[in-house]
Amino acid sequence: MSPIGEFRSFFKTDPGLTHLNNAGLSPINIEAEAVVHYWVERYRREGMFCDAAYLEAVDNARKQLARFLDAEPGSIAFFQSTANAVSQIAFHLNLKPRQEVIMWDQEYGSHLYPWQEACKRAGADLTLVESDPMMATPIEKLLAKVSDRTRVIAISWIQFQSGAISDLKALAAFAESRGIWTVVDAFQGIGVLPFSFRGLGIDAVVGGSHKWMTSPVGVGYLCIKQERARQLIPHNVGAYTFGTCEDPTDLSCTPKQDALRFEAGSKQVLEIIALGASADLIQRCKVETIQKTALDLAQKLSDGLRALDYQITASNGERQMTPIVNFSPSEKSPLKTVDAIIESLVKNKTSYARRGPGVRVAPHAHNDIKDVENFLSLLKGR
Ligand SMILES: Cc1ncc(COP(=O)(O)O)c(C=O)c1O
Repeated sequence: MSPIGEFRSFFKTDPGLTHLNNAGLSPINIEAEAVVHYWVERYRREGMFCDAAYLEAVDNARKQLARFLDAEPGSIAFFQSTANAVSQIAFHLNLKPRQEVIMWDQEYGSHLYPWQEACKRAGADLTLVESDPMMATPIEKLLAKVSDRTRVIAISWIQFQSGAISDLKALAAFAESRGIWTVVDAFQGIGVLPFSFRGLGIDAVVGGSHKWMTSPVGVGYLCIKQERARQLIPHNVGAYTFGTCEDPTDLSCTPKQDALRFEAGSKQVLEIIALGASADLIQRCKVETIQKTALDLAQKLSDGLRALDYQITASNGERQMTPIVNFSPSEKSPLKTVDAIIESLVKNKTSYARRGPGVRVAPHAHNDIKDVENFLSLLKGR
């Protein structure tokens, strides 16, 4: 079997559905499904007798995710959502009045709003840098706004509406020597594009389970340099901030020194173990192979849309750098309104998202060329 054939063999979706909203919610892979079934059954049959084993499985999931992100297991904290992971940083790095946080003007709410609120509470300024035409996000433009008041640069690696990509290496190189915090929401890239936390040198990355990682909804995570983790006081505090549920309570205990200090109590075990299994699967199938296939499909999709006279929000030029395609009708396109496009997609059970200037579709490597062809045939308006 070809490497991509192997990856596809882990997806078993209902016939008649076309999954093109992988930037929203991807179908999950069958290894993730299997570990959830396995642990549900063990909980039913064994109760307390599987206590140590499930904790070990969570530990293993942390190692699997760490391997996948190229980070230390102790750099990773699990949360329930990306918003929670961002909030841990935004509300606890002790922002001061007049300090500044810089972001793009097209960030997703779970990344934007915690920073907006943290700035409001601290009397700090939130600066939103205007994207280029076509919603492009060239990092030089953002870095040109940095001043001696800039405390944090918080941006998405890949923007959720447009698929615009920012150069994280250039960001880290600029910010590290100036002591500016770099916080990156990488939810729209991790799982489909290669990523190395160690290699990049950014301070912190947040992401989650249910898009390109093809895992169940319910996990947000923070991956943070250990020296930066120690600069943040934990937002949530409980037994696991200090030790485990086995430890006697002790009012003089001190928090853990690594990112595990941010996990206060019991966790969403099933979803975390599934995320670990998904990270392992994607690593085994090679993210570079997945990337190539997803980008090829996205390219065929955007070329096909152009040939039908739809307008592409080509943030990164005409060559797809990410699998996200945002398109709109034009005077010459067969379907003339966004509503007409959506009506056709809904009728034909093709998932999509209405985002920013138009409609967003985002093929993953579990899609195949037939999905793209079916989609394009719907856009012909016949
Ligand atoms: C860039 C980005 N970050 C985060 C999220 C999800 O945030 P949360 O886990 O808080 O729902 C999304 C999508 O829903 C997203 O596109």
